[in-house]
Amino acid sequence: MARHLITSAIPYINGIKHLGNLVGSQLPADLYARYLRARGHEVLYLCATDEHGTPAELAATKAGKPVAEYCAEMWEVQAKLAEGFRLSFDHFGRSSSEQNRKLTQHFAKVLDEQGLIREVSETQMYSKADGRFLPDRYIEGTCPNCGFESARGDQCDNCTKQLDPVDLINPHSTISGSTDLEMRETKHLYLRQSAMKEQIEEWIDTRVGWPVLTTSIAKKWLNDGDGLQDRGITRDLDWGVPVQKGDEPWPGMEGKVFYVWFDAPIEYIACSQEWVEAGKGDDWARWWRTDKGADDVRYTQFMGKDNVPFHTLSFPVTILGSGEPWKLVDYIKSFNYLNYDGGQFSTSRGRGVFMDQALDILPSDYWRWWLLSHVPETSDSEFTWESFQSGVNKDLADVLGNFASRVTKFCRSKFSEAVPDGGAPGEAEAKLVADITAKVREYETHMEAVEIRKAAAALRGAWVLGNEYLQEVAPWTTFKTDPEQAAMQIRLALNLIRLYAVISAPFIPDASAELLTAMHAEGADWPDDVAAALTALPAGHAFDVPEVTFRKITDAEREEWQERFAGKRD
Ligand code: MF3
Ligand code: ZN
Repeated sequence: MARHLITSAIPYINGIKHLGNLVGSQLPADLYARYLRARGHEVLYLCATDEHGTPAELAATKAGKPVAEYCAEMWEVQAKLAEGFRLSFDHFGRSSSEQNRKLTQHFAKVLDEQGLIREVSETQMYSKADGRFLPDRYIEGTCPNCGFESARGDQCDNCTKQLDPVDLINPHSTISGSTDLEMRETKHLYLRQSAMKEQIEEWIDTRVGWPVLTTSIAKKWLNDGDGLQDRGITRDLDWGVPVQKGDEPWPGMEGKVFYVWFDAPIEYIACSQEWVEAGKGDDWARWWRTDKGADDVRYTQFMGKDNVPFHTLSFPVTILGSGEPWKLVDYIKSFNYLNYDGGQFSTSRGRGVFMDQALDILPSDYWRWWLLSHVPETSDSEFTWESFQSGVNKDLADVLGNFASRVTKFCRSKFSEAVPDGGAPGEAEAKLVADITAKVREYETHMEAVEIRKAAAALRGAWVLGNEYLQEVAPWTTFKTDPEQAAMQIRLALNLIRLYAVISAPFIPDASAELLTAMHAEGADWPDDVAAALTALPAGHAFDVPEVTFRKITDAEREEWQERFAGKRD
């Protein structure tokens, strides 16, 4: 039994996320959290909304609402959808919290004391028409790197190069459209990341067993071209964490806020304080301070690949540079992208399925199963309706669902709604127990290594073994000549349903709970001893035939949905 801290990249507040966002951090983190809890570990799984920066301001303006009000409303929406997908956060916080404001200002102060912050006078784009500076997404123009015409001030969406607003060719304000821009002098704080380059490099180089995707992106940033450069951590914006040195003002920085990527990862820590404030826990420091016991914690982060530089380089600079005993991440699991039906998910064009829409058409377990078993782990993967239909219909309906319904219905019709007695198990049963044991152990190994596709395959393999056993021993035939034997076979199969429910719960929590309820086996433990778990339900134990656990997706539905989500969401 160990303690596990888990975080998933905190989603931007601006709008409802699509399934590509979901599968790229929150869903796998939830799977891992559920698995570890089921194995008896103490888990703290935290997530929050990322509420600062230009995306939030722009979305609020578009919605015609004050930004604070917009964020509060969208937090509710996102929290509700997270619940709909059964994301089992111990707390879902907000980066605009009081706790995060204080902690961000604290980190700025100690980084400054460590000599890691310098003040830089620089020229930034100023819009006379708007009467303000235009950082990040407030400015668009042609990318100097690839020629893409609507590159944003902070990054080109086409070639992903990080940009500075002053680099853009033919820039214009995204607020007013004005091209009447001039360079004006302004002062900003820079985090001296370059001073930490060696320390960070050594840290990355000594991370054993990290996913190649994570380390290769980190190394690329460290070694290619620009390396670990000093980075502006303040902005001329109204919305954000005001620039202060702890509780004290920062002379010359009045009216400025910290850059969203500076305060967002700090929210991982602040979120644990919000968790305590909400009365759900009583000690955040034992998770985050190595001087308060956090050395015993294993900390795993989940994120999409675009987030990797911030988690392997920038945030560690904040943590290590502070000189304070903060817990550093132990393992970073990152993901490639999920594409949608021959292209990309697109929030702006409404292309693909968004979290709210998904739950409107099918229960969350259907999505969880397909998404997790197709998680873009080693390369990008693609959502197609054909693949989704076949994953749901075959794995869930034909294999798992059919097993549960066939076994329980057969028992009810030939014996009763209670586990039958029957004779002693024979060779086929011994083989099944051995095979299931091997599969469960394989599943555990993959889960512990956060190899999600492999874990899904092992789980599916365990389901298949049950079906193969039924085909082989055919209790419906045995019953005609040897009802005792058939009873024994069904007794084992009923126990298998219970075991499936337990081990499948991290992937499909609702269906698992339903099956456990049907088996009158709520609260069943993890099958550490598979053979024992397969005799847990004794003869005479009552059960109910479960309602249809999974239904099939028809071809007509598939076609209709394909049409509906092709890209015209309003
Ligand atoms: N909001 C960012 C995104 O969706 C992720 C922020 S993760 C954190 O890409 F580290 F900053 F918290
Ligand atoms: Zn570009």
